[in-house]
Amino acid sequence: MSLQSEIGKRRTFAIISHPDAGKTTITEKLILLGQLIQVAGTVKGKKHDKAATSDWMSLEKERGISVTSSVMQFPYNGRVVNLLDTPGHEDFSEDTYRTLTAVDSALMVIDGAKGVEDRTIKLMNVCRLRDTPIIGFVNKMDRDIRDPIELLDEIEEVLGIAAAPINWPMGMGREFKGVYNLYTDTLHVFQPGKGSVIADDIRINGLESDEAKALLDDEYDNFLDEIELVRGASHEFDLEAYLAGQQTPVFFGTALSNFGVREMLDDFVQWAPAPLDREVEQASEARIIPAKDETFSGFVFKIQANMDPKHRDRIAFMRVCSGEYSKGMKMRHVRIGKDVKIADAVSFLAGDRELVEQAVSGDIIGLHNHGTIQIGDTFTEGDEFKFTGIPHFAPELFRRIRLADPLKSKQLQKGLQQLSEEGSTQVFMPQKNSDLIVGAVGMLQFDVVVYRLKDEYKVDAIYEPVNIHTARWVECDDPKAFEEFKRKCADNLAIDGGGHLTYLAPTRVNLALAEERHPEVRFRATREH
Ligand code: G4P
Repeated sequence: MSLQSEIGKRRTFAIISHPDAGKTTITEKLILLGQLIQVAGTVKGKKHDKAATSDWMSLEKERGISVTSSVMQFPYNGRVVNLLDTPGHEDFSEDTYRTLTAVDSALMVIDGAKGVEDRTIKLMNVCRLRDTPIIGFVNKMDRDIRDPIELLDEIEEVLGIAAAPINWPMGMGREFKGVYNLYTDTLHVFQPGKGSVIADDIRINGLESDEAKALLDDEYDNFLDEIELVRGASHEFDLEAYLAGQQTPVFFGTALSNFGVREMLDDFVQWAPAPLDREVEQASEARIIPAKDETFSGFVFKIQANMDPKHRDRIAFMRVCSGEYSKGMKMRHVRIGKDVKIADAVSFLAGDRELVEQAVSGDIIGLHNHGTIQIGDTFTEGDEFKFTGIPHFAPELFRRIRLADPLKSKQLQKGLQQLSEEGSTQVFMPQKNSDLIVGAVGMLQFDVVVYRLKDEYKVDAIYEPVNIHTARWVECDDPKAFEEFKRKCADNLAIDGGGHLTYLAPTRVNLALAEERHPEVRFRATREH
């Protein structure tokens, strides 16, 4: 089979949802449908760890578990589906954001009883940055959920995206009878108690049929009215609008009872985009790498330590963006300018790692990382370009800022604080001296700060170099351990513009040592605004 048609089969996506909406459950059912595993349930395991995430060991364990299931590949209806898991825990949101840069579309799972929740809104905003196409699944129809029409309105209003129902629920909770497909005029009949097996696909053709009338019984006339209302009041599905990230087709179902998932997946593999072309930067110019380009390229969106506790190894997750990987190939590690031969990349099949012989654009492969690979790194078949748009949140550049007129220190502090609230720069106040440190992601931001300080706060400020390599926001659930950490690391601690305690590391090694010495402390590279 040709490379082009292999690539065309790929559907690479992630699930976005608020915790408890049913992401894990639906993942199990998707895999079951892909018949990768016969009985759903083996993906799980996180529930035991949920309560104890503050403990370092179980945090590691939680990572391990979320990782064994972090990339899953399964065949479905002639397509090859790659599902990238995103950690549910908010501490890993940076990871989630980056994972979303590695997919071509997303599945949004909404708890029908709760509607659109916090984290879904945030993740949706991330998807919007790249106009990621999103399919919606309203879950838990076996419970008494909210009025489906109201839910669609909420999706449209709160998430700012048009919603097009593809099917419509027939009842809910104990009275749930299945879903009616508005486009195929087919009733899909619900059978309770089939959660762990693939239930028979019982269909009734035509809402006008006698079988449909028998199924809906007393509710038949009401349901006809409801469908008329829905058809009149909601958006019609528009594939172009979906692919442009402007409309979300919505399915109803119950993941726990394994119903409605198949109906969604059938359409998903048809509609969801095959690997998309991606933007790169080459010699400071932007250009596009077509997903169907024959030459290999990919970028690293995630690095995971200790995937295999026996080996304490680190795996770099690479999204293949063009061409194909074959075992033993030579690829260029663009950032360090070296060619490396990769013979032991792994793929992920429901938790089992396997040496991968071949992978094509759209697939995810794992590279063994011995410290030379960083998040965002590009690998190519010799070309010197770099994939862009992989978010980094901690500032990378630091300067001490000083006043030309010492009497204006109040204004300087206020100005810096307010500018940092806008998010493009950060200000840090070390605890051991009265310095003011500005952290930024790009050099230009330093100039903007000085300009705006003068313009908006009437202060003249100048920069001086400072020996800081990176910053991490620190947190700890154990007050005693935290006090100890604060005492030992006082020289490196600062308060940022938002009042959060921050660790300023002079070198990468220093940071690694601090993390190793204070395992109870979380060193965060991002902070929620
Ligand atoms: P998450 O990964 O998004 O956090 O959600 P998860 O799948 O773990 O589901 C959260 C809870 O919701 C689980 O219950 C799960 O069984 C339940 N659930 C998922 N889908 C459905 C559904 O369609 N209907 C109903 N009624 N419940 C659903 P739990 O009690 O928290 O966990 P467990 O003990 O059942 O594993």
